[in-house]
Amino acid sequence: MKFDTPAATNPIDQLKVVGKATDRIDGPLKTTGTAPYAYERHDVVAGQAYGHILGAAIAKGRITAMDVSAAKAAPGVLAVVTADNAGALGKGHWNTAKLLGGPEIQHYHQAVAVVVAETFEQARAAAALIRVEYKEERGAFDLAAARDGAVEAKDNPDTGAGDFAGAFADAPVRLDATYSTPDQGHAMMEPHATIAAWNGDKLTLWTANQMINWGVKDVAQTLNMPEENIRLISPYIGGGFGGKLFVRSDALMAALGARAAGRPVKVALTRPQMFNNTTHRPATIQRIRIGATPDGKITAFGHESWSGDLPGGKPETAVQQTRLLYAGANRLTAMRLAVLDLPEGNAMRAPGEAPGLMALEIAMDEMAEKLGMDPIQFRILNDTQVDPEHPDRPFSQRQLVECLRQGADRFGWTRRNPKPASVREGRWLVGMGVAAGYRNNLLTKSAARVRLDGQGGVTVETDMTDIGTGTYTIIAQTAAEMLGVPLDRVAVRLGDSRFPVSCGSGGQWGANNSTAGVYAACMKLRQAVARKLGFNAAEPTFADGKVASGGHAVPLAQAAKDGELVAEDMIEYGDLDKKYQQSTFAGHFVEVAVDGATGEIRLRRMLAVCAAGRILNPKSARSQVIGAMTMGAGAALMEELAVDKRRGFFVNHDLAGYEVPVHADIPHQEVVFLDEVDPISSPMKAKGVGELGICGVGAAVANAVHNATGVRVRDYPITLDKLLHHLPEIA
Ligand code: MOS
Repeated sequence: MKFDTPAATNPIDQLKVVGKATDRIDGPLKTTGTAPYAYERHDVVAGQAYGHILGAAIAKGRITAMDVSAAKAAPGVLAVVTADNAGALGKGHWNTAKLLGGPEIQHYHQAVAVVVAETFEQARAAAALIRVEYKEERGAFDLAAARDGAVEAKDNPDTGAGDFAGAFADAPVRLDATYSTPDQGHAMMEPHATIAAWNGDKLTLWTANQMINWGVKDVAQTLNMPEENIRLISPYIGGGFGGKLFVRSDALMAALGARAAGRPVKVALTRPQMFNNTTHRPATIQRIRIGATPDGKITAFGHESWSGDLPGGKPETAVQQTRLLYAGANRLTAMRLAVLDLPEGNAMRAPGEAPGLMALEIAMDEMAEKLGMDPIQFRILNDTQVDPEHPDRPFSQRQLVECLRQGADRFGWTRRNPKPASVREGRWLVGMGVAAGYRNNLLTKSAARVRLDGQGGVTVETDMTDIGTGTYTIIAQTAAEMLGVPLDRVAVRLGDSRFPVSCGSGGQWGANNSTAGVYAACMKLRQAVARKLGFNAAEPTFADGKVASGGHAVPLAQAAKDGELVAEDMIEYGDLDKKYQQSTFAGHFVEVAVDGATGEIRLRRMLAVCAAGRILNPKSARSQVIGAMTMGAGAALMEELAVDKRRGFFVNHDLAGYEVPVHADIPHQEVVFLDEVDPISSPMKAKGVGELGICGVGAAVANAVHNATGVRVRDYPITLDKLLHHLPEIA
């Protein structure tokens, strides 16, 4: 189905199932521990051996010698695979670094060997016996030091409008400030894990992967195999956040280990391997310049961002939202990419916008302060309903102002004292902060197959994944709505490369696009049912397990009484995303209390008011947003991969050293979804929320800390050492 004109009224609009707060249909499996995650699939293939990965001990250089003899002779060892005996390997399409290093080493903890043994302990013990000699080369590991040598990245040209430099120079009120965000790790609960089994030249991987079809292509390219000989199965995933967008070394090394050992092999990355072996969100330095008239109209907007990546890598697109979020005739955005020999930088939840808004939305707060304006008023005054760089492109929907206004009402914004450090409760300094949230809505084709059986049961099959987001449930809701059956008559089968190719889970595009694919397949099935039942009038209605037209109703099951009816289709998009800017918006509100003696920051309340098209399942959408707000709080206050700038690795590579929020850190959270349907986005009229929820949170926290203390921290995370010597005297 080609979607190239705004959606008309359609069966989803009935909202009998879609749009209702619905428990996850996979919830019981998850809460009883019976949803099998990749590493736990002991039953899928007999004779599983264990692989343990050895990572490189240097960040850059070459292996000069490798002695695996002791490892091979160790108890229980079945095989040792290194670049020496792995055969010719290609590199996957989506990544910069190879998954198996040697002799060249591209980053610390790049896999250099896998040891396969009868038990996990034997594999790990034997891996420790491998002797590797390296010739270490000098690498570049420090973004600040590499900043001056950074260059414009191909595919990421500067953008702008008008005359930024002139308008900024002439502006009566100006802000020129620089911010930094650190490297961050995805730190999802489930480590990367794979069981690999060969059957002749056919390979099956039970793995944890967000994008099944990308994974098939990457494995094919890496192992020089035809795609049709590879099967990826990933029905349950314990979090991804972008860290599982691509197959990682667990999958490749399990496949190589299994081939060498002649046995199925399972491999999990250990927690301490994950941070340096896989991808991460790269650090940024961001310079923001805003010029405005004394009454607060922005006349000049400049945002430059510096980030680093391995040679051939990509910049963190932290200026992305600044092209679209606020008005202003004279504009400039620019990204500069430095070569760094740290582990590969790549997507993490809301790549671009998440770190970009951490800087931009502090800058907006600072500018409002300079202007003596309320920060919400300042944002509202500079709202735009069109793409400011291309004023003939309207937003399909844009309710940022409404998000901010409703949020202000609900949060009690009028109780905020605009004068920093003026609200005290004993030794606590109390403050409120606000930030806008913004994330693009991306359209990606997505296919599904729907089956109707003789009992009236419906089964949906698509290679779409559920990374903890609620995909199973919204897909079931979609099929139930389309076919007029209760939710419990729908079975959903996901995450298998034998199913039709979906959009996958990434970039918050999963909900809208995957359900639109199911919508397309259901439309086809409805036609097949109508034909089978002899309806030729206007399209019949599907409700209460019956198909009806012209006063005549037949049980849906009857259409499949002679055998299953099957329909498959794909949603594909025209150019509606070129004609209209499609985005999601939020107002984030935070109240903090800062201990005036120790600088300890405690979150007290958080509110997100979101506008993101039709909300397919308010319950799972809320869960997405509160999870994202939690991650935003982590970004504001805790998360930072500490770079060893001499040796080039992330030092705090475990969950003891890499801090993320726990329950006790997170206070009352409230989420409000504005009424919105976006007929430009798809027949579902929906968008995504999973990334919107994090976008802006960090700055809202930072702005609240400033309001509480008068201290403006521009370098994340906002740890107490950055406050301590600047706090006001407390009585
Ligand atoms: Mo997302 S960072 O595209 O999983």
